[in-house]
Amino acid sequence: MLETGKKLLDKAQKGNYAIGAFNVVNMELVQAVAEASRIEKSPVIIQTSEGAISYAGLSFLYELGMEASKYVSMALHLDHGRDLNIIKDCIKIGYSSIMYDGSHLDFKENIRVTKKVVGWAHKQNVSVEAEIGTIGGAEDKIKSRTIILTEPSDAKEFADKTGCDSLAIAIGTSHGAYKFAGKSKLDINRLREINKIVKIPLVLHGASSVPQSLVRKANKYGAKLGNPHGVSEGELRKAVKNGINKINTDTDLRLAFDATVRQIIKEKPEVFDIRKILSPARQEIINLVRNKIKLFGSNGKA
Ligand code: G3H
Ligand code: 13P
Ligand code: ZN
Repeated sequence: MLETGKKLLDKAQKGNYAIGAFNVVNMELVQAVAEASRIEKSPVIIQTSEGAISYAGLSFLYELGMEASKYVSMALHLDHGRDLNIIKDCIKIGYSSIMYDGSHLDFKENIRVTKKVVGWAHKQNVSVEAEIGTIGGAEDKIKSRTIILTEPSDAKEFADKTGCDSLAIAIGTSHGAYKFAGKSKLDINRLREINKIVKIPLVLHGASSVPQSLVRKANKYGAKLGNPHGVSEGELRKAVKNGINKINTDTDLRLAFDATVRQIIKEKPEVFDIRKILSPARQEIINLVRNKIKLFGSNGKA
């Protein structure tokens, strides 16, 4: 069933767990995320970036999301919305949650635009995630070299003034596969401070773990990924314990899919039926998402 982001996240906040928000760009990813959530009896957030929408088309992604919502409790969410026209299109077509990412704006302007978007979305019963501070790293359309950690008092003022339903904060993560030179370290004290004074659910972006087994597998079958490092599972556990209720993951799904496709193509060069290449990749995503759900503690909560 399609739920608003607010409904799922408020419940997660009360229950002290986090809901996985997984980026999708095609049918196989939607099916895998939905199937993992169904098996684990977990609520889930299926999210699409502006880049995913320009790749697959909004109505294709929307219909895939609707199909998944027939058998899982989920929100369909726009990730890192910056283009106000895309935000309006998502609200209009029936997304149940959107993010307005004004982290590139100065504080006052971020408040002004976020508040305007909250007004549009709430009229249609659509939830709004906003961002304060800067999560570093590179995505298709969003690039930022520096991480500006979130000031707790700014986060409170921002949440109070905008009326957003959840808030993405910067505590040391970044987007993509190259987050840390070695061991990961999040600013958990800062998270605690923010969680003490901000009443709405908090969101962690850039949360992929970049499992070394997947990096090795991809490299073994021809990828050239170098030496990427993500957020350890221990740090993610601490983040959930200290107030994170939504965890965004994209890179790990890309790695799992890529590594498996490479393996099949390399080990079975005679195969050219794409279903035989994509089925194992989809299965690998199911396994990965099931493990994430258990780590975040949302299993059995649907
Ligand atoms: O943070 C969001 C995702 O990693 C989106 O990446 O813009 O390349 O689709 P993308
Ligand atoms: P990762 O690149 O760590 O998967 O982060 C994804 C994300 O934050 C999507 O909004
Ligand atoms: Zn993000």
